[in-house]
Amino acid sequence: MVRRVAVVGAGSSGLACIKICVDEGLEPVCFESSDDIGGLWRFKESPEPERSSIYRSLVVNTSKEMMCFSDFPMPADYPNYMHNSELLQYFRLYAEHFHLLRYINFQTTVRSVTQRPDFSLSGQWDVVTINRDGEEERHVFDAVLVCSGHYTQPALPLSDFPGYETFSGRCFHSWEYKDADACQGKRVVVVGIGNSGGDIAVEISRSAKKTFLSTRKGAWVISRMSTSGLPLDMTAITRVNNILTLLLPKTLVNWAAERALNHKYDHRLYGLKPSHRLLDRRPLINDDLPGRILQGALVLRPNLRGFMDSGVVFEDGTVEENIDAVVFCTGYKATFPFLPSALSEGPHGEFTLYKRLFPPSLQHPTLAIMGLFQTKGPIMPIVEMQARWAVKVFSGVSCLPSEEKMLEVIESERKRNMKSYLCPRQAALQVDYISYLDFMAKEVGVRPNLLILLLRDPVLWVKIFFGPCTPYQYRLTGPGQWAGARHAILTQWTRVAQPFRTREVPEPETRPSILLSPWLLTFGGSVIMVVLLYKNKLIPALQGAAQFLDRSMIFIRDTWFTG
Ligand SMILES: Cc1cc2nc3c(=O)[nH]c(=O)nc-3n(C[C@H](O)[C@H](O)[C@H](O)COP(=O)(O)OP(=O)(O)OC[C@H]3O[C@@H](n4cnc5c(N)ncnc54)[C@H](O)[C@@H]3O)c2cc1C
Ligand SMILES: *[C@@H]1O[C@H](CO)[C@@H](O)[C@H](O)[C@H]1NC(C)=O
Repeated sequence: MVRRVAVVGAGSSGLACIKICVDEGLEPVCFESSDDIGGLWRFKESPEPERSSIYRSLVVNTSKEMMCFSDFPMPADYPNYMHNSELLQYFRLYAEHFHLLRYINFQTTVRSVTQRPDFSLSGQWDVVTINRDGEEERHVFDAVLVCSGHYTQPALPLSDFPGYETFSGRCFHSWEYKDADACQGKRVVVVGIGNSGGDIAVEISRSAKKTFLSTRKGAWVISRMSTSGLPLDMTAITRVNNILTLLLPKTLVNWAAERALNHKYDHRLYGLKPSHRLLDRRPLINDDLPGRILQGALVLRPNLRGFMDSGVVFEDGTVEENIDAVVFCTGYKATFPFLPSALSEGPHGEFTLYKRLFPPSLQHPTLAIMGLFQTKGPIMPIVEMQARWAVKVFSGVSCLPSEEKMLEVIESERKRNMKSYLCPRQAALQVDYISYLDFMAKEVGVRPNLLILLLRDPVLWVKIFFGPCTPYQYRLTGPGQWAGARHAILTQWTRVAQPFRTREVPEPETRPSILLSPWLLTFGGSVIMVVLLYKNKLIPALQGAAQFLDRSMIFIRDTWFTG
């Protein structure tokens, strides 16, 4: 019987895990090395070793209705894309509402998590912690949820660039970046076009003399703002889109979406165009980058080749002299120093995880690593679902396949992702937002049954099928059902509109008819596209069917009426 569960870390993942354990009647004990909750989202004026660190201006890249926990909608007046301090406030509300603080041991660092000598029988873990007075404590747990985050170890590939030892400017990682104050009037190079690289380059370009953004691959840049100014993820992450991208030829979808994007700013003209197709990887979410390029404040450059005394050389041979600083936005290494090294068994020391959660080599699946994945949507609802599944696995309600089978699945998923992500490590991390949530929801028994829903509650069905895949969908039925889920779905667009209601504008008198709704238009358009695409096959098929009907009628007439 699993009872006591150790939760390592009290960031957003740790909080969700504590809540889920309590819901399931388990006893969570959370250890948090700092003195507060929130992890990454708790801004600090200067970076602290071994901790994640964010910049002052960071605004989330996923919208509030999509990124909230499934039974705790964000306050209606919150902006759709909020500042990091507001997200931290939401986590405080969540912790308060569900009384989670009482389970957290602050200023207590987990030093090691190891299998007990009788692990093959008990599945239990020895956990060693250091408390605020420096005292070591030993605990025994039935299961462990690892929520320690993975943006703590900056990857700074300085030695890849010859000449850095003698470079006179400052070199630092985005982990150390807080704001652009020190960049005023300077000439700065930003390396890497991830979400941080884009944000930081834009911010620096507002005060620096010149900012260069160096990228090896380029990127598709997409705004947070979708059509009619609605949140991007709410219009993109829908079940109907998921089905359409499965049905329609991928090149066609890519072509159409890239065309729409290039219509706003031509990625080739702007020097942004990557070699991969739009849907193959996560696009860069940034509202301001193209504008800064248009204004000449931000200059795109190819990959950095190396340093000279006070300048840098790019791979196309161009040189920029008098560079004052180089900011490396080159990502992080995920490390879990307290876990047995035998668990990080990948060829590059990474974690091989079944469904991005369970190390397949354990005799008992009593340890799960939360949040170690990448996706085109928000992280929090997925981690929450991971926790719901993990506790079911701990208690034996949901069973994992054999080790062999798990390794097979891991390999086949990695192979599939390798088509888009050439790097095997990157490929292993990717999950498809709705498919992954649905898979886990099915294991937990909370996946919405669309057919039954269509018959019983067509209004809700329309919202769920055509509307955004908001997390409330996974609280409608089954274990952990929440009575407010249906209402939360029906009112989600009201909460989107609420923060805009700062100046009353009268409603138009006639409302647009449902036939003009963008969802129906998209759906109808797609059906027409399918028909057009397959018309060569469709027409003979229809002709065949007509002929068959014709012959059957003749047969029926001949046998029954004349025979
Ligand atoms: C710049 C940036 C922007 C992002 N923006 C978004 C976004 O807009 N939307 C989104 O969905 N995701 C975003 N993410 C992803 C983000 O990582 C997750 O959303 C989420 O914050 C992860 O939370 P976590 O609890 O897993 O980790 P963290 O928030 O890092 O929390 C880990 C906690 O564990 C504690 N800890 C670590 N080691 C130990 C130990 N040994 N013992 C005890 N305690 C320990 C730490 O002190 C910390 O409190 C962003 C990430 C970055 C880096
Ligand atoms: C948001 O930004 C973080 C940090 O760069 C990134 O890991 C995440 O994938 C981004 N989310 C989306 C939906 O692009």
